[in-house]
Amino acid sequence: MGAKGFFISKAVGVVGIVLGAGAVATIIALSVVYSQEKAKTDAPVAPTDGTGTTLPTVPTPAPSNEPWDKYRLPESLVPETYTVTLHPRLIPDPITKLYIFTGTSHVVFKCVKETQLILIHSNKLNYTKALNGFLATLTTEGGGAPAPAIKSSGLVEKTQYLVLQLSDSLVKDQKYKLSTTFTGELADDLGGFYRSEYLENGVKKIVATTQMQPTDARKAFPCFDEPAMKAIFHITLVHAHGTRALSNGMETGTTDQTIDGMSVQVTTFEPTKKMSTYLLAFIVSDFGFIQTTLEGVLIRIFARKAAIDANQGEYALSVTGPILKFFENYYNATYPLPKSDQIALPDFNAGAMENWGLITYRETALLYDAKYSSNSNKERIASIISHELAHMWFGNLVTLRWWNDLWLNEGFASYVEYLGADHAEPSWGVKDLTVLSDIHRVFAVDALASSHPLSSKAEDIQRPEQISELFDAISYSKGAAVLRMLSGFLTEDLFKKGLSTYLNKFAYGNTVYTDLWDHLQMAVDESGKPLPGRVHDIMNTWVLQMGFPVITIDTATGLVTQKHFLLDPESNVEASPYNYEWIVPITWMKTNINQPSIWLTKKSDTRVEMKVISGQWVLANLDTVGYYRVNYDMANWESLLNALTSNHQDIPKINRAQLIDDAFNLARAKEISTILALRTTQYLTKETEYMPWESALDNLDFFYLMFDRSEVLGPMQAYLLKQVTPLFDHFRILTVDWTIIPPGHMDQYNQVNAIGKACSTGLPQCQTLVQGWFTSWMDNPAVNPIEPNLRSTVYCSAIAAGGAKEWDFAWDQFLKASIATEAEKLRAALACTKEPWLLNRYLEYTLNPSLIRKQDATSTIVYIASNVVGQPLAWDFIRDRWSYIFNQYGGGSFSFSNLINGVTERFSSKFELQQLEQFKKDNEAVGFGSGTLAVEQAIERTKANMMWISENKQQVLKWFVDNTLP
Ligand SMILES: *[C@@H]1O[C@H](CO)[C@@H](O)[C@H](O)[C@H]1NC(C)=O
Ligand SMILES: *[C@@H]1O[C@H](CO)[C@@H](O)[C@H](O)[C@H]1NC(C)=O
Ligand SMILES: [Zn+2]
Repeated sequence: MGAKGFFISKAVGVVGIVLGAGAVATIIALSVVYSQEKAKTDAPVAPTDGTGTTLPTVPTPAPSNEPWDKYRLPESLVPETYTVTLHPRLIPDPITKLYIFTGTSHVVFKCVKETQLILIHSNKLNYTKALNGFLATLTTEGGGAPAPAIKSSGLVEKTQYLVLQLSDSLVKDQKYKLSTTFTGELADDLGGFYRSEYLENGVKKIVATTQMQPTDARKAFPCFDEPAMKAIFHITLVHAHGTRALSNGMETGTTDQTIDGMSVQVTTFEPTKKMSTYLLAFIVSDFGFIQTTLEGVLIRIFARKAAIDANQGEYALSVTGPILKFFENYYNATYPLPKSDQIALPDFNAGAMENWGLITYRETALLYDAKYSSNSNKERIASIISHELAHMWFGNLVTLRWWNDLWLNEGFASYVEYLGADHAEPSWGVKDLTVLSDIHRVFAVDALASSHPLSSKAEDIQRPEQISELFDAISYSKGAAVLRMLSGFLTEDLFKKGLSTYLNKFAYGNTVYTDLWDHLQMAVDESGKPLPGRVHDIMNTWVLQMGFPVITIDTATGLVTQKHFLLDPESNVEASPYNYEWIVPITWMKTNINQPSIWLTKKSDTRVEMKVISGQWVLANLDTVGYYRVNYDMANWESLLNALTSNHQDIPKINRAQLIDDAFNLARAKEISTILALRTTQYLTKETEYMPWESALDNLDFFYLMFDRSEVLGPMQAYLLKQVTPLFDHFRILTVDWTIIPPGHMDQYNQVNAIGKACSTGLPQCQTLVQGWFTSWMDNPAVNPIEPNLRSTVYCSAIAAGGAKEWDFAWDQFLKASIATEAEKLRAALACTKEPWLLNRYLEYTLNPSLIRKQDATSTIVYIASNVVGQPLAWDFIRDRWSYIFNQYGGGSFSFSNLINGVTERFSSKFELQQLEQFKKDNEAVGFGSGTLAVEQAIERTKANMMWISENKQQVLKWFVDNTLP
């Protein structure tokens, strides 16, 4: 799946501040949760009738651990082909008012182990009884003795099975065909076969679409819904005249037919390749599209007609071909399908989904409009397309056997998405950004005692909720970080070579993650490259234990050591099979001598001859290719600070960003003083690069969270105003008084930082500038004079400074916005107002799906909570409505942890801790769903914050005061 569930534009200015850390969906020690989950597993349940009528029960002997009580399929049956016809109704049933779909399915499977039981996944489907009186019919396929009779049939809700008991055993190696007829609801729940709604010229339109990953294909038709159960799918979709049907395969024809007295169209598709169920997609819409072909591959972009007519699909179309070519070359394997469709959906839970041949996106992740979209929007589109196209091979052609290895699938795509995007937009330098977006993001989570290793055991991942929980920052971002490190020390050439043989060997099949290590090792062996161990041995230390090391370099003695980096050094961590020792590739430079590298294989076995002359410095982890932090002796820190102030360009810009991030986090962990960390920001008056600025602002966000309700705020704002004023002036000159756009992609980002920070710290010129633009727009709504890159921050600053008039204008523009990226910017900026009544009204809007789409509800509440005025209001709001929110929005999304994290992020007092504990107690009966861990974590975090404030407040206050004196 694409990009991290819930994406925050980096240009959201003041509102965005909390989300850097808050949007990180963190998971507390999974093992704890699994054991809780296991404890909850209640008594076995007898199958119930799926037709909603009487119950032909399956006998359930009392002490039971029947096959249908287990979440994993038995290994007796293997599907080969499915023939599925689905008919989604885009108008509600006049009596029940339900939107439904009807379907038939014939699955041919082979019996590989004798059994009298057929288990096939099925969730929320109602079956029509066949003539035999049961929910399905069974016949022999391809000759052989007649199939045994069905003795009983039923559905098991808990484990999501259709269960058939047979009078006699299925014969090993014989093929059978199971046929069913069923009905399901086309709900607006964003999972399985669901509906999305939008308005076009005032008319409500319905799209039927799917999101199967991880376990919702079974909500569309009965199937063996595990990734290793690959099969070939023959799909037919029935749909109304005037609509178009899409699926993974190319359309082979559309005919008119009459079904149930209705005149309809019937579209058939080419059979798919052998593939996993979670990659299927079925869509019926009246969308428009544009297309091109590239060396025989048809590339199409679909979206609402209005979006296509406004050319919003053109950018996606223009980068898809080059990125596909890039990956063909990178993998040394041709694109396996004849077409590549991509479609933008008004309602979509994740960022995007890599369905094979028919990739689905949120509108903001695919549609670009030069008049409305920022460079950040554009970059997001290029990288998500790249991420999803990377999956066409890695994930789709070759699929991990079970979900416990999800991290390799998502980590890999999250790493190479930068390579593909860089190929499409070479001038941007996006490859560097993985350091901010993945490494810094996941360092924050992985430094907690409650983190978890990348790899999980297959037997620990069983229930759909456990699978969903794996889609977290560890899988995506740590996965990307360790693969980038691996590619770094192997060299990109060896990495590609191993990858290519892996993909060729396992095409159309399934693997475990060590299969990739095997192939990389073969490439290493062939090249003769020396490594301190096998790829497996090196990577085990990164994959099988949680966390990462801090490397300490003592330039006086030359000693290089490693230690598990924990944000709270007092926390208790579980034992690790590798005793928290890593095999670490260390690259380093010292003044005037570049890039030697060493391996650190034990906790402290390495002594390097440093010969550091007084006043010179050593810097390790060049370009942050390694997944670790670095600490130094005090003399070296002083030399580095000196270098920053006198000649910051001597240190590569990624490492300037890294020094700041390491210093702030080492201070949080009490390895160095908070004042030393703050001192890394002193040189920023001379810094104009985006990466170091972004790193500093991200880290200072924590200071805002802790202090924006205290007397530290004034001096802190004064200090930052002083630091950012030269940057603001730099951009004023660079843009000729804000009349041109800076040419560089990173400069465009940093211009947003300059304006956002200058305005929020109260630089009068900035406020005048921004309010001038906004007022001019209000005076003439037809002409928005605000440059798209700057809109998020300008909207936010102007709404924060304004009142109801500004708010209502922006709301009106939000409702009218014809492109989702513009609506997105306004939706975030509306949370910036300082008026409590406006914020409360906005909170009410979030639970009204006709005003705020369901997919956006939690992120809107989190935006409001990130505003210091909105935070207590949002907290009251969710406490008040918890059971309602939980019931309305609880269905399978990842957003509850974001919600809890976002709303509680400022918590740092004893009183807030009590409230949080009370909240947990009051709602135990309702539950917290995917936010269960987040509640525990919020309690832990609140305690840590209380401690941090008591230890740091006075010295930080004094430092800010001292450093703003003229
Ligand atoms: C399935 O059956 C149940 C029970 O009769 C009913 O409440 C539900 O609406 C049905 N669903 C569909 C989509 O027909
Ligand atoms: C690409 O694959 C072909 C065969 O599939 C192989 O002969 C060739 O060496 C590969 N090229 C590289 C650069 O790995
Ligand atoms: Zn993905």
